[in-house]
Amino acid sequence: MSIPAIAARRTVKVFTGAAVARATIESLVEAATWAPCHRLTQPWRFAAIDREGIARLCSFVQQPPVCEAVLPRKLPSICERLAACGAIIQVTCVLAESEEQRREDRDATAAAVQNLLLAAHEAGFGSFWSTSPLLAHPAVLRWFGSDPVLEGHVGTIWLGTPAESPTPPARRPLADVLRWA
Ligand SMILES: Cc1cc2nc3c(=O)[nH]c(=O)nc-3n(C[C@H](O)[C@H](O)[C@H](O)COP(=O)(O)O)c2cc1C
Repeated sequence: MSIPAIAARRTVKVFTGAAVARATIESLVEAATWAPCHRLTQPWRFAAIDREGIARLCSFVQQPPVCEAVLPRKLPSICERLAACGAIIQVTCVLAESEEQRREDRDATAAAVQNLLLAAHEAGFGSFWSTSPLLAHPAVLRWFGSDPVLEGHVGTIWLGTPAESPTPPARRPLADVLRWA
């Protein structure tokens, strides 16, 4: 994959409300699962909802205890933007017993998310990797079918047809981040 193709992916938070087909979601998740993964633990788990599910999720998060995870003034705008997504994918990581394996599994799951975001971008969709406490709330994880005791939240991926074209946030020059040792 070329640098321009990678660099053109942007975090998009505003969507048109157009649906993302289930077949598309499945292809994005398949791309995610080709991430590298030490000991092939394949710790990632994905739970997806389409437009109908998003409407149900919006109602759920506006009730206690989930709504208490964010400031009351922030809730309406989050729900408004959420309602315009084409799909949502909740990404979790199965929690291994050892600390070292947990760290590597989380790293692998993050790599899987990047695969998913790049595949979404290539397919013409915008995406947003969110760690908002609202959607990472244990009750929300349970709503998506995962057990927060057994799986850790890695990200909530908002997907859809972009309704904004964000300016690329600048990256540090290579000389700041690459050291020849
Ligand atoms: C682990 C992780 C968590 C993130 N969580 C949030 C978040 O909760 N809210 C947010 O606005 N952006 C979040 N982002 C997106 C970053 O803000 C975004 O990637 C960054 O601003 C660079 O923009 P770009 O993705 O368009 O290059 C997250 C990104 C990562 C990797």
